[in-house]
Amino acid sequence: MIIFGYTTELMFFSLNRWIFFFFFLSVHSTLNIYWKKNEFGVTDIPVLSQVLCGLNGGIQMRPFLPPRPKSVIQMNNSSFAISTLDMGISDEEWERLQKALDWPGPDQQITQLDLSTSPVHSTFSIVELKKSYKVGDNISVIITARDHNKNLKTYGGDFFKAKLFNSKLKVVYGEVVDHRNGTYSVVLLLPWEGQAQVFVRLEHSSEVVQILKKYRESSFPRSHYNGHFEGPGSKNTQVSEVVECNLKWGAKGSLRKGKCCCEYKDIKTGTEWQCERPKKLSCDKLVGHSMGGFESPLNHVENHLFSKCRSGLTTPVPAGFYFKDVWKSFVCNTQQLNFSQMGNCLKNKIVYLLGDSTTRQWFEYLEKNVPGLKRMDLHTPRTGGPLMAVEMKNNIIIHWRPHGVPLRFSKLLITNLHYINDDIDEIAGDSHAVVVFTFAAHRVFHPLTFYVHEVAKIRQSVVALLSRAPQTTVIIKSGNTAGRKNIFQSDWYMMQLNTVMREMFRDVNGVIYLDVWQMTSCHYLSENIHPGPVIVANEVKTFLSYVCPA
Ligand SMILES: *[C@@H]1O[C@H](CO)[C@@H](O)[C@H](O)[C@H]1NC(C)=O
Ligand SMILES: *[C@@H]1O[C@H](CO)[C@@H](O)[C@H](O)[C@H]1NC(C)=O
Ligand SMILES: *[C@@H]1O[C@H](CO)[C@@H](O)[C@H](O)[C@H]1NC(C)=O
Ligand SMILES: *[C@@H]1O[C@H](CO)[C@@H](O)[C@H](O)[C@H]1NC(C)=O
Ligand SMILES: *[C@@H]1O[C@H](CO)[C@@H](O)[C@H](O)[C@H]1NC(C)=O
Repeated sequence: MIIFGYTTELMFFSLNRWIFFFFFLSVHSTLNIYWKKNEFGVTDIPVLSQVLCGLNGGIQMRPFLPPRPKSVIQMNNSSFAISTLDMGISDEEWERLQKALDWPGPDQQITQLDLSTSPVHSTFSIVELKKSYKVGDNISVIITARDHNKNLKTYGGDFFKAKLFNSKLKVVYGEVVDHRNGTYSVVLLLPWEGQAQVFVRLEHSSEVVQILKKYRESSFPRSHYNGHFEGPGSKNTQVSEVVECNLKWGAKGSLRKGKCCCEYKDIKTGTEWQCERPKKLSCDKLVGHSMGGFESPLNHVENHLFSKCRSGLTTPVPAGFYFKDVWKSFVCNTQQLNFSQMGNCLKNKIVYLLGDSTTRQWFEYLEKNVPGLKRMDLHTPRTGGPLMAVEMKNNIIIHWRPHGVPLRFSKLLITNLHYINDDIDEIAGDSHAVVVFTFAAHRVFHPLTFYVHEVAKIRQSVVALLSRAPQTTVIIKSGNTAGRKNIFQSDWYMMQLNTVMREMFRDVNGVIYLDVWQMTSCHYLSENIHPGPVIVANEVKTFLSYVCPA
């Protein structure tokens, strides 16, 4: 049974619907083994500059200038104003982030449903479709967005996903470029010989993205949490009370009931957490944390827009492709280690897997497959952790723990929830230490400015770690697609958080960014916040290729 938060939510939309498709292409090749690194020409593929294959080549730390207080960012309709000082970054960096996150859309609020982008009337075509193609060729796809009255859209912002595939076994991801005039283009690379089909899907109309944006920064709490208080009551009885808790970000908290409250401030991150005041117990009796319900802020029209449309995404490059369920990375020469080789790779390593259930999936994969690796009983919940596994022969230690609140897990001891930066500060590091963190899935419910604040803290800790122990391997695992399209967990939110993480670590040398977004969005398995076993296996193999480069 999965007891994590994602299983309980309300889903008010139907299955993904691919809008059009099926252009069959036949691809000819003179190469037999075309996915091999040199034959395929890795250098032709644009590669994210911060992604390094191999370890820590020549780390040069650039000092981060302390932030200066200045402009206040006016977030409309949130009763708070967040400054760059609150986020812990400079004005210049905030400008850079806003540029990276910029997403076009309608310039006014759309209230007429039929003006939103229609997945039925939007079309795509292949530019100069040829009879046959060679491996390594690109095909160019133009998408034309239309509204429900079949009129051409005049602005951009629709969230499309595109991929190329052949049967179930070969898939490549395409980057969608928004021309901001209702047309979009995608360039798809043909990496294999045989048939290929182009799929394009409208994930969200630009009108829905506009709504997602609005509620991301609003103080409306879309996700609620519970605080579990326990302690002695009168007559020596044990009293327990469960109350609502939430993040306090900006001047105002997000508790629904007006009366304030117990407040908890994490000294290092400055993050403030609030709980309603329990009736019988004092504030210091908070011992447990768990997820609460979701609450939708959508009005009638907005709800209709959501159910009427689907939205989509762009990500920078094809980072690789699947071939018979094996992810072939263009970025790193992925090694297909067998299980005993995995054990050898991890010999004498301490691996710290931090974040959420998606890094726990890595823990579980290693636990299941690395010979001799055994989970110790730390007397913690099986899926909530913290968890630890050891292998005595090769001296391997693997830790996993979830990050600090807000967190949508079942009940956990509050003492076991640590902020990622706090954990990193307590790692001595060195060549035996491998730190992997992921930080996205539980942040889609909260303002982006809060995310920036937290990532700035994590960055500080990573920079300090790499300066005291430059041999430490640090890997950021991106957030993966979940195939969710609601106001709570849209993939559009996740994609924007990935953009923030990448941008903010752009100048930190020696950090590896492991992009699993494309691995999860272009596989034939349906997208899931907890990717399927085949995908997790590929993620871990890519991870180990960084830990033990060929
Ligand atoms: C907030 O609203 C004002 C006027 O209502 C507008 O000028 C401003 O651009 C808005 N800011 C944001 C961040 O949307
Ligand atoms: C701000 O909130 C009010 C009341 O909730 C709403 O009527 C108004 O449309 C909102 N404005 C914006 C710019 O979102
Ligand atoms: C395919 O597209 C990539 C990236 O846009 C480009 O670098 C490459 O040269 C193109 N290949 C061909 C054969 O046009
Ligand atoms: C949209 O913009 C693209 C790129 O600038 C251009 O090639 C195309 O002709 C434009 N389409 C329309 C309908 O204006
Ligand atoms: C794993 O691969 C190594 C090297 O190719 C080989 O020697 C070994 O037999 C393999 N082990 C298993 C269990 O397949």
